Amino acid sequence: MTLSVTRAGDIAIVTIDNPPVNALSRALRQDLLSAAASLDADTAVRAVVLCCAGRTFVAGADVSEFGRPPEPPHLPDVIARIETAAKPWIAAIHGTALGGGLELALGCRFRVAVPGAQLGLPEVTLGVLPGAGGTARLPRLIGMEDAARMITGGKPVPAEKARALGLIDSLAEGDLVTAACCYATKVLTQPLPPVLSERVLQPADAAFWPALEADLRKSARGAEAPLRALAVLRAGETLPFAAAMAQERTAFLELRASDQAAALRHVFFAERAAPRPAELKGIAPRPIAVAGVVGGGTMGAGIAAALRDAGLPVVLIERDDAAAARGLANLRAIYQGAVKRGRMTEAALAERLAGVTASTDYAALADADLVIEAVFEDLEVKRAVFAELARHCRGDAVLATNTSYLDPEAIAAGLPGPGRFLGLHFFSPAHVMKLLEIVPGRDTAPDVLATGFALAQRLGKIPVRAGICDGFIGNRMLKTTRAQAERLLLAGASPAQVDAAMRGFGLPMGPFEAQDLGGLDIAAFQRQAARARGETPFAPVADRLCALNRLGQKTGGGWYDYAAGDRRPRSSPQVEALLRDIAGAPRQALTDAEIVEAILLPMIDEGVTILQEGIALRPADVDLVQVHGYGFPRWRGGPLHMAERQGWRAVLARLAALADRGLAPPPGAALRAMAADEAPTDS
Ligand code: 3HC
Ligand code: NAI
Repeated sequence: MTLSVTRAGDIAIVTIDNPPVNALSRALRQDLLSAAASLDADTAVRAVVLCCAGRTFVAGADVSEFGRPPEPPHLPDVIARIETAAKPWIAAIHGTALGGGLELALGCRFRVAVPGAQLGLPEVTLGVLPGAGGTARLPRLIGMEDAARMITGGKPVPAEKARALGLIDSLAEGDLVTAACCYATKVLTQPLPPVLSERVLQPADAAFWPALEADLRKSARGAEAPLRALAVLRAGETLPFAAAMAQERTAFLELRASDQAAALRHVFFAERAAPRPAELKGIAPRPIAVAGVVGGGTMGAGIAAALRDAGLPVVLIERDDAAAARGLANLRAIYQGAVKRGRMTEAALAERLAGVTASTDYAALADADLVIEAVFEDLEVKRAVFAELARHCRGDAVLATNTSYLDPEAIAAGLPGPGRFLGLHFFSPAHVMKLLEIVPGRDTAPDVLATGFALAQRLGKIPVRAGICDGFIGNRMLKTTRAQAERLLLAGASPAQVDAAMRGFGLPMGPFEAQDLGGLDIAAFQRQAARARGETPFAPVADRLCALNRLGQKTGGGWYDYAAGDRRPRSSPQVEALLRDIAGAPRQALTDAEIVEAILLPMIDEGVTILQEGIALRPADVDLVQVHGYGFPRWRGGPLHMAERQGWRAVLARLAALADRGLAPPPGAALRAMAADEAPTDS
């Protein structure tokens, strides 16, 4: 049984107990139906309180069932049965009431919640829309405009706001179930309000829909569920309840079977699997109470902010007093930005800064449990820093480097106690970006690796284990992307066309505008190092731009030209002339679809090579790196998820065809092996 029924006088208490999050599995739906029938038949019961055991109220439909055809009893029928029960049901909410969980609560006559509980319909974040009456009942309870914002945005609201919206009837003081029973006793003395399915819906203001649609078109960036939810809500506005339910269900089932929903589920489960790699099962991380950061530049300040946001006191080490002051100023600027956007109070800013000690003396790190180095990307500078750390930090302190491209083994060579060393590769801005690549060295102790994963969770980041190679997972794939983008220019595309095509694919920025923003010099420096190692990186145009000191926005031009004080890219006659010079004319016209393929397929090829080499352990890790480090559209699931859906043979054939046209390098051995291992399909 997934639920139990107890009694408090004439009130029945139905307690759902379906760990971990009380999701509405088929068994639970069946048990709810049975409970509704037996409680209706029980003449001693006058009201029913519906609550949950464990950490949360019902967190939604069971998403793991979404890959299969829906099985009866269907959730809308279960909720309708509860709504039309002979006695009023009162939902008692703690933790989260999300998706189907909130829809279940909307089927109850009343809702009581503890302060701090979260209520929402986040279905669009999983590529679907509410499929059990959310689009029909919520607007009838709180009004169309608030309901439409909640449903299309997918963001839950705290109980206090839910109370103000009229979504809950009472905030529970003290014990939730006792409060819900008291509430039940009170409402039994009054006439009951009509159930939501019988209420009349007030339409939204005429100007509301176009404004919301314009917002969603901007924010959805290709995701279809939010716009579909809007269409369903808007159409439902003038429909009787039953018809509104029917159209919602049709749209829900269509979306549930869509590629986007499959991709979003893939990312959802990958994110939850990421913090707990099987090889670290049972290994306790080292406790972290005080953190140190060496280097207070772009990354060091961002990392310090992330650590402070998680409540850790931070010791910030810089090379001299002026740099220490700049480091603190960088940190302050991060927080001032948050204050300006209304995301932080001045008091919180002061509290965050009060928890930072800036120093030029490594002795200040004597109490640190973890130190993250983020100084210049220079092997000798970093080695000197680790020598200081070895001298001043406790022997059990975890020592980490944030290097992007240097070999962590070379940084740590000779470090006493190498088991405490690892790479923690943050992404810029470090206090915002969710990805943390965790790079163990040869000697990294398992509990130190576990500490990296635990830290990620504490900072609200997605940890991905990466092996050592030039660029780890993410920056190594980025090199492929950039080389491909240049190859397309030589073939005939313009920077603006490549950028627009990739934005159309769903990336927040195209590869050329992103380089202009970050500066072309960092990658040039990496290519120089690669050439020194005997490698032959492909960047014929970028190399020429760097030689011309066209380093991006900061020099007034890179792949594009920029007017003074204006960040809008303009096509550059100089770059066009350069392209004609390097590639010769005439070149071929490419479609946006060809451009996207020519960037995506080599990324997939590189991703499987990375897997085969053991640099990434699981395909989903490659996808998480792309989604959380590089803005790959979540609703596409990541490059390897896309390849899996399309079939490895198809990917191989299309990449080979691009290579034949000179638009991509030939497919690698790892991709060929994936295709060879794939069972043939009928299609
Ligand atoms: N279905 C199935 N499994 C779920 C689930 C769901 N709806 N929600 C969470 N889980 C699983 C997770 O996969 C994880 O499993 P694991 O331990 O095996 O990895 C476990 O529950 C715990 O999840 P979290 O690690 O995320 O736990 P947290 O405590 O950090 O967060 C939560 C809890 C806030 C409930 C979060 O899990 C969450 O946001 N879940 C999704 C909620 C949601 O999107 N609901 C809507 C579903 S769609 C729907 O309801 C359609 C309806 O309209 C018909
Ligand atoms: P930065 O130049 O902004 O900051 C480096 C800081 O280190 C400066 O404040 C400098 O004063 C300080 N520093 C230099 N030598 C020092 C020493 N001996 N002791 C103490 N402090 C010293 O550089 P940024 O961008 O913050 O990069 C730092 C590291 O992070 C590099 O290894 C870089 O590869 C890596 N990284 C950078 C990313 C980015 O997007 N900028 C992303 C991920 C990693």
